[in-house]
Amino acid sequence: MDKLNYQSMVNLFAIFTIGALGIFAKDMRIIGGNNTRIYKNPFMASLRYIESNIIFCGGSIISNKHILTAAHCVFRELDNVNSIVVYTGIALTRSTSGWSHTIDTIVCHPEFTGEDSDDDEDSNDEIYVHDLAIITVNEEIRLNFLQNVINLPNREIYDDDSGYVLGWGSTTHPNDTFPVILQKAYMYIYPLANCSEMYDFRLHIGQFCAYNDVGIGPCMGDSGGPFVIDGKIAGIVSFNYPCAHGVPDFYTNVYFYIDFIRNILNS
Ligand SMILES: *[C@@H]1O[C@H](CO)[C@@H](O)[C@H](O)[C@H]1NC(C)=O
Ligand SMILES: *[C@@H]1O[C@H](CO)[C@@H](O)[C@H](O)[C@H]1NC(C)=O
Ligand SMILES: *[C@@H]1O[C@H](CO)[C@@H](O)[C@H](O)[C@H]1NC(C)=O
Repeated sequence: MDKLNYQSMVNLFAIFTIGALGIFAKDMRIIGGNNTRIYKNPFMASLRYIESNIIFCGGSIISNKHILTAAHCVFRELDNVNSIVVYTGIALTRSTSGWSHTIDTIVCHPEFTGEDSDDDEDSNDEIYVHDLAIITVNEEIRLNFLQNVINLPNREIYDDDSGYVLGWGSTTHPNDTFPVILQKAYMYIYPLANCSEMYDFRLHIGQFCAYNDVGIGPCMGDSGGPFVIDGKIAGIVSFNYPCAHGVPDFYTNVYFYIDFIRNILNS
């Protein structure tokens, strides 16, 4: 099999067109996932545009003032934090019955690279490296059974680990449609060395790969959401070959950034 090209990779940020907004499929999933409830995942947050109430990314509550997400979700909004809002305590995609939180500051990882930007066809560069950001909300989040903190990881990820991913992203691709409720899909870690063999770009140790099967995996709008292992936030949805083709997807390895995250939580 030919290696998958870095140019065919996309981040899983949702770019909405008028057409996509009208389509809300029933009984469709993350792609291939299952409906889930917020009290089972009370750390799950959505990032929405205030004006449209549209979810463009996921995030995770890591303290009563902080949300962990992907840098590519928010780096365009750093000067414009008043245009987005964080929702917690709600699993329904369009509902505003949860709690909303306005944003004080957003810190992206200072070395976040984004997409490879040189036009070298034979590029062997890393892409979307250091894809994490921390949002500080203005008011403390009142913790309860619907909105609560997820613990940071206390160990490396092992090759035989499995976990699950959560999101409100597209449940069909390329004609994207969006679920009415939060989706969950179990995924298996795919060893980094094996993952490298499938792609023509370099992987960074701050990333990891996971997969399940053809027809299962994160898609547009799932960016920034959590990958949960043993009840802790092990990863952040980052990018993939879109979507659910049965090849491994890429996540930010939270444990690799634990000092960076703790420094912000303690500042
Ligand atoms: C996507 O939508 C276009 C235009 O409506 C249609 O022609 C095409 O067949 C659709 N593709 C899939 C895979 O459903
Ligand atoms: C969906 O739920 C079923 C039944 O609990 C489970 O067997 C399956 O693994 C789940 N699918 C995913 C992708 O998590
Ligand atoms: C990863 O590669 C090793 C060495 O080639 C191989 O033994 C192993 O089965 C591979 N694992 C997977 C999940 O493909």
